Parts: sequence; C-alpha cells; structure tokens
Amino acid sequence: MKILIINGPNINMLGIREKNIYGSETFDNLIESCHKTAQKLGVEIECYQSNHEGDLVDKIQQAYGKVDGIVINPAAYTHTSIALLDALKAVNIPTVEVHISKVEERESFRQISYIRDACYKTITGCGIKGYSMAIESLVKGEYNK
Ligand code: DQA
Repeated sequence: MKILIINGPNINMLGIREKNIYGSETFDNLIESCHKTAQKLGVEIECYQSNHEGDLVDKIQQAYGKVDGIVINPAAYTHTSIALLDALKAVNIPTVEVHISKVEERESFRQISYIRDACYKTITGCGIKGYSMAIESLVKGEYNK
C-alpha cells in the first residue's frame, strides 16, 4: 500500500508560525512522525509540500493509478480551492483531510472546506498526530465502512 501525504502553504513553517495555534512541533517532526507510523504499519509513504496551488493539483493528478490513499492538509487552500476539490474528485483516491488546529473553533472563513466533499474523513485539532491517525484510517480501510 502506498499513501501520499500532501501539505499546502506555510505548513513548512510549523514550529515557527503561530505556535499558540499550531504548537511547537516542526515540519521535520511532522515528516518524521509520519514515517514512523508508516514503518510501524508496514506501508510506503511519500511526503510532499508546496506553497503553490497548481503544484498541489499536479501532485494529486500524478497520484492517479499509483497511490492507494491520500492524506491532505491543503492549509489556506482548504477554504478557497475548487481546483483542489476537482483534482481529488478526478483521481477518486480514498482521502483524509487533516488540520493541525481545530478549524471549526476558529474564524468564520475557516469553516468552509471546499475539499471536504472529496474526503471520506476529516481530522482536526489533533496536532501532528492527526496525520498518523489519517494514515491508520487508510490502512484499516475505513473508507469502505
Ligand atoms: C490549517 C488551518 C488553515 O485554516 C490554515 O490556513 C493553515 C493550517 C491547519 O492545519 O490547522 O495554514 O490547515
């Protein structure tokens, strides 16, 4: 099984940006934690981060036929991008939406997720652990339930 982990803009600034909201774990900690979980569960993962919407669309398209699951935190593009929604719908790969912070308790503009419609599960407010929870869900095949 191969899982693609996609992170959007400013997630590479974890550990530096708004620590009161996103915590002090760094982006490297996040990637390391995903690799540890993948190793424990015996799955292959690829981690990708970009600050550019089109690059994220390209990466989703390239996953078609090659990847069994996607974990995505599109960051600010969550709340704006129909292009990401369309790309996820196009490839039709089981996808989990992850947010480090509890978006539902934040500003009203963060209450909208365009991509949610293409995701079978959403995990918010669990910090970097949310990514491991998402990987576990995909490995368990929760999208079939
Ligand atoms: C985020 C929440 C978004 O609203 C924000 O733009 C981010 C990170 C999160 O992981 O909590 O950059 O997706």
